[in-house]
Amino acid sequence: MALQENISLKPYNTLGVDARARFFLPVATREALVDTLGETRSTQRLLVLGGGSNVLFTRDFDGLVLKNQLQGRDVLEEDRQHVRIRAGGGEDWHGFVCWCLQQGYCGLENLSLIPGTVGAAPVQNIGAYGVEVGSRIEAVEAVDLTNGEALCFKAEDCHFAYRHSIFKGRCRNRYFITAVTFRLSKIPHLVTSYADVRQALAKRSGGVTPQDLSDTICEIRRCKLPDPHDFPNAGSFFKNPTVSRRRYQDLAAHFPGLPAFPVDTQTVKIAAGWMIEHCGWKGRRWGPCGIYDKQALVLVNYGGATGRDILALAEAVQDDIEAVFGIRLQPEPLIL
Ligand code: EPU
Repeated sequence: MALQENISLKPYNTLGVDARARFFLPVATREALVDTLGETRSTQRLLVLGGGSNVLFTRDFDGLVLKNQLQGRDVLEEDRQHVRIRAGGGEDWHGFVCWCLQQGYCGLENLSLIPGTVGAAPVQNIGAYGVEVGSRIEAVEAVDLTNGEALCFKAEDCHFAYRHSIFKGRCRNRYFITAVTFRLSKIPHLVTSYADVRQALAKRSGGVTPQDLSDTICEIRRCKLPDPHDFPNAGSFFKNPTVSRRRYQDLAAHFPGLPAFPVDTQTVKIAAGWMIEHCGWKGRRWGPCGIYDKQALVLVNYGGATGRDILALAEAVQDDIEAVFGIRLQPEPLIL
């Protein structure tokens, strides 16, 4: 499809913000991307969009938006225990997870129902219920937008960390992720350590299959997290802050019940949702937007909110949390 001009981005971001893009290119083939780059590279600011579930537009985008629509699911290699699968960067994430489960390929079930695309998954190393996608990735293929070159990153070169990778760090928007290769297992190794998951599974009788685990996680997510079609949102708007164990002990002495999860021997992640709820923000409306009433980490556009409205709400929350806990929450989405 050809380059489009002056396009509303409202259908392309799950917060439903009505910003406009000067140019917009749906990328269905790698060749189309490389050709367009050849024509426009030197003159345009570029933004790669997957499902638009991790971006907040606070103004129009004066440049070229590249919408990843690259499809494809190919089994590269398979033995009795493992399988290597290469998926196109524009594939819908949850659709891909469901397909893997149907084929009997396990390892992504804890990441069921996360909005977005396959190509966006490594960028922020999506994670939920005890699993991060980086641990299931073997390689990430990308086009370098500065020169049109095709590259392949091994997992160890992606520097995956909590909600982070090189694609989010210094190389933000430099690479267009064309495909991701996953190494999955044909023998289930279920991760059920997360309290919510364990409790929900305890109500079931008999053995638990990867599909059961996926179904359970979908149920938990549907209870806690709003569907962007009903209530436009970007999932967790803030990251859970990482602090030293010592700092956590001081905080917990002042705020009994503050939940924490171990990261390593020195540090813990503390629950930003709890802190936001503690400060009375849960369920609170802020003009056309607000904080979701079932999960305080989620900001919702209740209709007609601009990116600036949402940013103002986020900053008010950050200021409040900082005043009470001495910690400034960091937003998860890319703010433009
Ligand atoms: N909590 C509250 N109030 C709230 C929300 C949470 O008190 O409003 C407390 C809970 O009671 C619990 C703790 O905080 O003790 C953790 O809550 P939850 O299990 O809901 O997870 P989370 O830390 O709030 C993270 C991810 C989610 C992911 C879940 C499950 C981040 C920023 N968020 O949320 O990811 O689905 O764990 O693994 O790490 C996303 O990134 O968009 C996202 C939804």
